[in-house]
Formats: sequence, C-alpha cells, structure tokens
Amino acid sequence: AKDPVRVLVTGAAGQIGYALVPMIARGVMLGADQPVILHMLDIPPAAEALNGVKMELVDAAFPLLKGVVATTDVVEACKGVNIAVMVGGFPRKEGMERKDVMSRNVSIYKSQASALEAHAAANCKVLVVANPANTNALILKEFAPSIPEKNITCLTRLDHNRALGQVSERLSVQVSDVKNVIIWGNHSSTQYPDVTHATVKTSAGEKAVRELVADDAWLNGEFISTVQQRGAAIIKARKFSSALSAASSACDHIRDWVVGTPEGTWVSMGVYSDGSYDVPAGLIYSFPVTCKNGEWSIVQGLSIDDFSRNKLNKTAEELSEEKALAYSCLA
Ligand code: NAI
Repeated sequence: AKDPVRVLVTGAAGQIGYALVPMIARGVMLGADQPVILHMLDIPPAAEALNGVKMELVDAAFPLLKGVVATTDVVEACKGVNIAVMVGGFPRKEGMERKDVMSRNVSIYKSQASALEAHAAANCKVLVVANPANTNALILKEFAPSIPEKNITCLTRLDHNRALGQVSERLSVQVSDVKNVIIWGNHSSTQYPDVTHATVKTSAGEKAVRELVADDAWLNGEFISTVQQRGAAIIKARKFSSALSAASSACDHIRDWVVGTPEGTWVSMGVYSDGSYDVPAGLIYSFPVTCKNGEWSIVQGLSIDDFSRNKLNKTAEELSEEKALAYSCLA
C-alpha cells in the first residue's frame, strides 16, 4: 500500500474548504488508491467551526483518510505537508481600500510562507487559491526561498474550466471533448480567456473552436466577458462565491500537476514567469502548461495575434502594479 500523503488546506472552515476537504478525502485530488492525511488550518474565531468539519470527516468514514490535523497553529499545520492548498485569506469588505486588503494578505502569506519553509516536507507543492491569488503566491515564494519557484503556483484552473464550459454550452458538445483553451495572466477580471488554439473532438476528427463557433464577435466579446465575470455572476445568484467549482478545479490543478496532463492536452496554471511570450519574468502569471513527472512546463511556440498580444500585456500590467503594491506593503 502507498504511504499517506499529507495535504494542507488553509481556510479549511470556509466555504471552499468545506467543499474541498471531502473531495481530497475521497481521492478526487490524488487518486482512489492514494491514502491521505488532512491538515486543516484556520484562525481562532473559526476554531469551533473547524472542529465541526473535523467531526464530519470522522462521520463520513472515508477509507482513504488516515488522519486529520485540525489546528489554528500555523507551525503544527505545516509540519511534513507534501501538498499545500492555500485557501485562507482576508476578504475584501465593503468600503475597504485595495491597499488595506493587500496589506492584510501580504502579512498572512509572509508568515505562512515562513512556516512552510521551515516545516513542510522537502519538495512540497503549493497551490494558492485565496485572492489576490497570483500576488499572494508571489509573496509566498519570496518568503519561502528554499521551496523551488517551480513548486509555487496559483489557481486559474477554475477560469480555464469555465471557458471549457462556455464553449461546450455554445456548441452543444460534451465538455470533455473540448480542450486547449488558455487563461492568460491574472485571476481577476483582466484575465484573457483565449480560444485561438482550442479544439473540439468530433466524429470527423479534431476541429478548431473558432471554425465551429464561426462567430468571432461572440468569441472576442461576450465569451471573454462571461468567463471574466463568472465569479461575480455566481455571487449574484448564490449570494456566496463559487465554492464547489473552485474546490473541484483545485483538485484538477493538483491532480494534473502530480499525475501529468494527457498527451496533446494543456491546462492553465498560474506559474512563475520565465519571460515566455514576453511576459515580464518574475510575475506569477497564468500560462498554458503541460505536466509530466510532477513538473509543469510552459507550452512554447503558440502564435499570438495582435488582439491577444494586447490582452496579454494588459493583464501583465495589472500584475506588475499588484506586485508593486504588495512590495509597498512590505516596506
Ligand atoms: P470564506 O470566507 O468562506 O473562507 C475563508 C476562510 O479562511 C475562513 O474560514 C477564514 O476564517 C479563513 N482564514 C482567514 N485568514 C486566515 C489565516 N490567516 N489563516 C488561515 N485561515 C484563514 O471564503 P471562500 O469562499 O472559501 O474563499 C476563499 C478564498 O478563495 C477567497 O480569497 C476567495 O476570493 C478565493 N477564491 C479564489 C478562486 C480562484 O479561482 N483562485 C475562486 C473562488 C474563490
């Protein structure tokens, strides 16, 4: 039998946490033959709720779940973890300045980075979900210098999956037959959902999404804004932000990273830019990636037309500004 993998979920008493921990305990993230030990962290005001989640995990009697650590102590939470899913953060409240929200999150990610740096297992893989996700990941990388850059990522897979969903609805095809959309840039409304290289599996072979949709006005307009604004639409409908789809996409992100992407398929991940596609190096930026042997690599050589170039630049500019704001909070 395989040794259990220790998976940390921060903000585990929150909405996404509540959807995510049962998925992990059922093997959705790491496979149906991979035992897990869940480490759940939240802050003292949520300690009782966190204990309630732990009680439910016991009650669900998950065969793969070999242990649960539920704590408000960040050091205890980080001890020996192989995978860290960072969902906890400080949400923007009405009337708050962007800088205040950034400042709260910078201090959270700085201290959690130090705890991971000192106590996580060697080669721990980190996925930041909490917003501002790209910039939180950047701060985490900054304060966990012994964790390799390639091990620190942020979640844009939900946006990627939303783009697949929109194409599948528009064409009335199975979502599993659509692939190779791309989310470029920030997990924010400046992200660029790109279908230039996306395809659909049909009985007559693989066809370009652009050809099948045959409506560039929709693809360059409403499609993009629907994906960009989907989070807000969910909040409007549900009165809470996306939780089940965020949790499911976080599982997709880690699973593909660990197990590998299928041949001929790429996914979107927020990763440390090496300057590919003229994106400034040193930003955490969402790129198309393939994964193999537990490592991602940015898909190279895709054509970028002027329309796309413009959008790649715009979201990069926003990330550079966020980075500057985050650093000003550190000063
Ligand atoms: P939530 O408010 O229900 O849960 C957040 C949890 O984090 C709470 O239990 C809170 O007590 C905890 N927390 C706050 N500070 C903490 C700290 N220092 N250490 C540990 N835990 C802490 O929020 P929800 O809906 O679960 O969303 C979580 C985050 O994920 C938000 O930042 C949200 O904006 C983000 N998000 C990101 C998505 C993505 O695609 N990247 C999609 C959806 C949400």
